Amino acid sequence: MKPVGVGILGLGTVGQGALTVLTRNYEEIERRAGRRIQVKRIAVRDLDKRRQIDHTNFDLTDDPSAIVDAPDIDIVIELIGGIDPARQLIELAIQNGKHVITANKELIATHGNELFKLAHSCSCIIAYEAAVCGGIPIIKALREGLSGNRIELLAGIINGTSNYILTGMRNKQCSFQEMLGHAQELGYAEADPTFDIEGIDALHKLAILGAVAFGTPLAPFDSILCEGIGDISYEDIAYADELGFTIKPLSVASRGPNGVEMRVHPSLISTQKLLAKVDGVMNGIVVDGDAVGRTLHYGAGAGGEPTASAVMADLVDIVRSLESKPNQRVPNMGFQPDTVSALPLVPISQLVSANYLRMSAENRAGVLADVTRILGDHGISIESILQKSLGDHKDVLPVVIVTQETTEQNMQDALIEIGALDSIIGKINRIRIENLP
Ligand code: NAP
Ligand code: HSE
Repeated sequence: MKPVGVGILGLGTVGQGALTVLTRNYEEIERRAGRRIQVKRIAVRDLDKRRQIDHTNFDLTDDPSAIVDAPDIDIVIELIGGIDPARQLIELAIQNGKHVITANKELIATHGNELFKLAHSCSCIIAYEAAVCGGIPIIKALREGLSGNRIELLAGIINGTSNYILTGMRNKQCSFQEMLGHAQELGYAEADPTFDIEGIDALHKLAILGAVAFGTPLAPFDSILCEGIGDISYEDIAYADELGFTIKPLSVASRGPNGVEMRVHPSLISTQKLLAKVDGVMNGIVVDGDAVGRTLHYGAGAGGEPTASAVMADLVDIVRSLESKPNQRVPNMGFQPDTVSALPLVPISQLVSANYLRMSAENRAGVLADVTRILGDHGISIESILQKSLGDHKDVLPVVIVTQETTEQNMQDALIEIGALDSIIGKINRIRIENLP
């Protein structure tokens, strides 16, 4: 049988990782796939760029159509990133009858509904394990290993860069910028690192995970609460420690009686919880299924070879199923396409959380009473207050308040009023507290 022809779009961090792993583990991969695999061509933007790996045995081109239109290519691996031209190239590849593997969460989260429809109509596979949580086989776990379960909740750390930054700030007292610089050097960060820092990358991944877990279309982004880690300071990390918490970039998708709830934000997590121990670039996701109970999925969330591990797993899966009829394959989204249906989404204003609030207050009588009155007016109960005395001579004192659970709407309204008090100086830092069961 002739070898399966593969074309790769992109030879950056993940592309080079994929080529390295495929070359190093070729025999194991071939023994698992059952067919020889041949990389026919690799498309890059800049043919003259110096690369970290030796690619002299491979045919490089700066013309992606030499891959997506090529008759000798059966499987296209898209590792360019972003929407354009990745979207058009994937569409062309599918229209030409090629199966596609991609690590592109932005594209899948934004245009997945249309792309999966197109792939279905052309009897093609779109495999995207590498798009979510680097090397952790979480898509496979949800689509196959847990397919007997009704999934109620998934919660975890699904962006490696932001976890790496917060871990470095906490454990090594490194600065935010220093850790971001390292994450970029190590190839963890997105081409535009604001995607990592502002929670957008995690939002893309959560949209994909939620759809695969609940059998829904990909959720519109404006239905997902999204906050990044840009405002987290050393003070917050130290206060969190003092209170028995660690700050983690958390993403949660759950379904309850009021519908599906999706949120991405930094969270205080009790240091006793498993997720609090997921450090550095590692990702960790807990998935609750009604039959299995709680499962924990842990591994490297970014980087060339860990992500390549997921790309290779998709490659093996596709090669194995090349001869199978389309209806005998695992559906792209895990559920049969005609059964995928939307669920109500809980409005962001109705999401519920406990909160950590840190503010700077004037050092005079009555200030705390004003703050607690406003919280009370909005039905928000206080769990504890921490006020650091820096001495009478200080004009401004730090105050940390931990609230009990309340809705986003109540908290936002209270924060506007507290922020308007003359006695509160500067910005109030609010971080949600996660009471994972
Ligand atoms: P990267 O290092 O920036 O590499 C992108 C590659 O795409 C480069 O080789 C670039 O060519 C090539 N490229 C860009 N535009 C092109 C075009 N028009 N035609 C042909 N080639 C083009 O990015 P990456 O970190 O490998 O990420 C790739 C994808 O994987 C993204 O979707 C990302 O979100 C996803 N991902 C990344 C990681 C990670 O840890 N980095 C993990 C999981 C998923 P030149 O080299 O010539 O510039
Ligand atoms: N920038 C992403 C992260 C890459 O740090 O998690 C892996 O998807």
